[in-house]
Amino acid sequence: MINKRLFNLMTNQKKKIYGIVVFRLINLCNSIIFYLLIANIINQIYLNQFALKKVPFFTLAILVIILIKILLNHWISNLSFTSSSQLRLAIRDKIFAKAFQLGPSTKNHLSISALTQISVDGVEQLEVYYAQFIPQFFYSMIASLIVFFSLVTYDWQAAITLLICVPLIPISIMTIMKIAKKILSKYWNNYLNLGEVFFENLQGLTTLKVYQQDQHYHQKMNLAAEKFRKATMSLLSMQLNSITIMDIIAYTGSAIGISIALYHFSLGQLSIIGAVMFLLLSAEFFIPLRQLGSLFHVAMTGISAADKLFDFLDLPNDESKLSSADSVVSEAIGLLKISKLSFSYLNEKQAMLQDINFSAKKGQLTAIIGKSGSGKSTLASILSGFFYNYQGQINWDSQNLSELSAQQIFNTVDLINSDSFLFSKSIRENLCLGDKHINEKQLWDILERVNLADDIREFPNQLDYQLTEDGSNLSGGQRQRLLIARTLLRDKQIYIFDEITSSLDLENEKIIMKEIYNLSKNKIVILISHRLYNLLDAAQIIVLENGKISEHGHPEALLENNGFFKTVLNEEQSILKGGQ
Ligand SMILES: Nc1ncnc2c1ncn2[C@@H]1O[C@H](COP(=O)(O)OP(=O)(O)OP(=O)(O)O)[C@@H](O)[C@H]1O
Ligand SMILES: [Mg+2]
Repeated sequence: MINKRLFNLMTNQKKKIYGIVVFRLINLCNSIIFYLLIANIINQIYLNQFALKKVPFFTLAILVIILIKILLNHWISNLSFTSSSQLRLAIRDKIFAKAFQLGPSTKNHLSISALTQISVDGVEQLEVYYAQFIPQFFYSMIASLIVFFSLVTYDWQAAITLLICVPLIPISIMTIMKIAKKILSKYWNNYLNLGEVFFENLQGLTTLKVYQQDQHYHQKMNLAAEKFRKATMSLLSMQLNSITIMDIIAYTGSAIGISIALYHFSLGQLSIIGAVMFLLLSAEFFIPLRQLGSLFHVAMTGISAADKLFDFLDLPNDESKLSSADSVVSEAIGLLKISKLSFSYLNEKQAMLQDINFSAKKGQLTAIIGKSGSGKSTLASILSGFFYNYQGQINWDSQNLSELSAQQIFNTVDLINSDSFLFSKSIRENLCLGDKHINEKQLWDILERVNLADDIREFPNQLDYQLTEDGSNLSGGQRQRLLIARTLLRDKQIYIFDEITSSLDLENEKIIMKEIYNLSKNKIVILISHRLYNLLDAAQIIVLENGKISEHGHPEALLENNGFFKTVLNEEQSILKGGQ
């Protein structure tokens, strides 16, 4: 009934959980003493031996018992609170560490909405498992025995009858558990599916409206919601039914125990104290396990969330990313060398990139071109440390990329592409991103270089102009120039530009290309572009075709072949001439 793996996730918290159990057991003994006191009072009244002078003693005893109860309850709730909050943090830390370890490939394993649901709701439900179910499990096992031993001396037959009835509750829980597992897994699948559908439709709502398909998707969302409602209802009815069964067992069990005790009392075989103790304590036999049963259902929801969580945590780690702390990256990298590089996307049988070999030098611009889907952006992502499950070697001078941590790679390479993000903060904050060393003059200088300074001077508050999410209140060209400015502000060793001039007009494109050529004098620069007329001054051009290099060389050399470069360049030039 206890999930071993979840139980072992607790390290520091185990002591607290045991503390809760011990305090609760002391609390139970305290209650038994209280019942004994009451039984004694009733006994004395029954035998007409109750004297008024004993009232202060009984009152004081009851007050002490109540005080102890309050203190114990306070400690128990404190311990539950601290252990559960520590556990929530610990589990969330594990999730985020794993997501960070997997990097951008996280999305390939689990959608962002599912990851959010598991780390928010899933972890909340796990809290019930840890902070309530586990302590209750240990407590209920011992509590029934304590109650048994405190009753057995009065009437062993009634006590044994109660003890025999007690295991019926865990047996009923176990039986229900088998059905519950199926229902819960269905519940979670529906929950995650609904979350995904909702998240995606909300993101694409404008598109759905434009194509007048919002009603259609609305219906689909209703269907997903209805499925989830049904799954929730079957979960609730299963819980309710099982609670009813446990109630029947608990109440029938105590009724049988009490009846036997009263029968013995009527025969004069049981003292009045014994009879009262049976009346008060019979229910205590069952209450802990009955509570365990109720908690079990909530805890099971958590356990079922944990299964999804473990699937995620069990994804293979990239070992090279773990053993990299002591590798040092040299300060000035002169050569990026790619040898026999092949790569497949997860779950894809066919290799996306095959046998890629080339070197990019500092002081020279390397351009990568090729048809859409030929693998250019995939290659850029690998060179920037986003995908690591490749074959072959990538070296920066003598340093092997696979021996470096993601952080070391990010410190050295800057990839700028359509995923580069602008925050809903000021232009200044977007450029600096918290780097306090960048001053106002540097900001304006860089904005002049990318021809954005004049635009920004016209904005209200200029550098403090607030952007909306991902810079959606900028024009496409302004957005791209701002991203380039942010990149140029940082001193990296390797720069990879993936299709960054697509929204620029010819004048701005010229300006940006000049900056990129200038940058390549002192850095390793790789430029991916569909606009081939910009690449005539590149030192080398690599043409990708279906994930393989089909042409490679100096632009002039490529113009002598009738390959992709020459054909597409000619097409471009005739279009440009036609437009003039
Ligand atoms: N995350 C992914 N999972 C599986 N396949 C992918 C993934 N991303 C891209 N691909 C596939 O890899 C191939 C190459 O994609 P890539 O983005 O590298 O092309 P590209 O050369 O940059 O194209 P474009 O010029 O259109 O930007 C495509 O066929 C695409 O379907
Ligand atoms: Mg691309």
